[in-house]
Amino acid sequence: MNNVVELDAITRNYQRGSERIRAVNEVTFNVASGEFVAIVGPSGSGKTTLLNLIGCVDKPDNGIVRIDGEPTSDLDEAGLTRIRARKIGFVFQQFFLLPTLTALENVQLPAMFLRNGDRTAEATELLTRVGLEDRLHHLPDQLSGGEMQRVAIARALINSPRILLADEPTGSLDSANAASILDLFAQLHAEGLTCLIVTHNEAVANACNRTIQIKDGRLEK
Ligand SMILES: Nc1ncnc2c1ncn2[C@@H]1O[C@H](COP(=O)(O)OP(=O)(O)O)[C@@H](O)[C@H]1O
Ligand SMILES: [Mg+2]
Repeated sequence: MNNVVELDAITRNYQRGSERIRAVNEVTFNVASGEFVAIVGPSGSGKTTLLNLIGCVDKPDNGIVRIDGEPTSDLDEAGLTRIRARKIGFVFQQFFLLPTLTALENVQLPAMFLRNGDRTAEATELLTRVGLEDRLHHLPDQLSGGEMQRVAIARALINSPRILLADEPTGSLDSANAASILDLFAQLHAEGLTCLIVTHNEAVANACNRTIQIKDGRLEK
């Protein structure tokens, strides 16, 4: 079994007043280990909702999500938290670094959560791998946008996830920083990491093995 993600007809509805929005509508696809997949589609088409379902921050109303072969629908909050911590790395457009922590401390945060001891060495190694070996003790507001996103990527990798999920990771960056973040994803993929990236950036989509198009919550064939 070589699929990191298996989605079987997943649906997610939102209620807004009297209106019901089907944000994700019977979506089925798999992501194999080692794949680099782009999800593209217009604003409001359900990309973020889909990523949150895969990342176990949200549950589908119908359908089955399997992460590393394990169905997530019957898990309680503790079970979902375990999968999020151990299997999923998440990167966001807005970075979401804690402003009072240094780069090194931000990267270690998800590891502290698993209580497996001091991870300074691993965090330093990851920050070096993303090109920030001379920024270890900087606070987020002392870093450029591209550097903050590198810290966020290092943070997403600290627990050795099975898959890296990224929601428009270059959406807040100028084109030069976006290109270097894209290079970083390509490098991580070349090292064997499975990546699923929501993007509007054509260069990102072109660098991927496969592009999944979504419109009005459905896959476009
Ligand atoms: N928490 C929410 N409550 C109600 N509607 C939502 C919520 N989140 C998203 N939506 C709606 O679901 C649809 C898909 O949104 P989203 O997944 O954010 O799309 P995308 O990331 O492609 O822009 C949109 O119509 C959006 O307005
Ligand atoms: Mg979105």
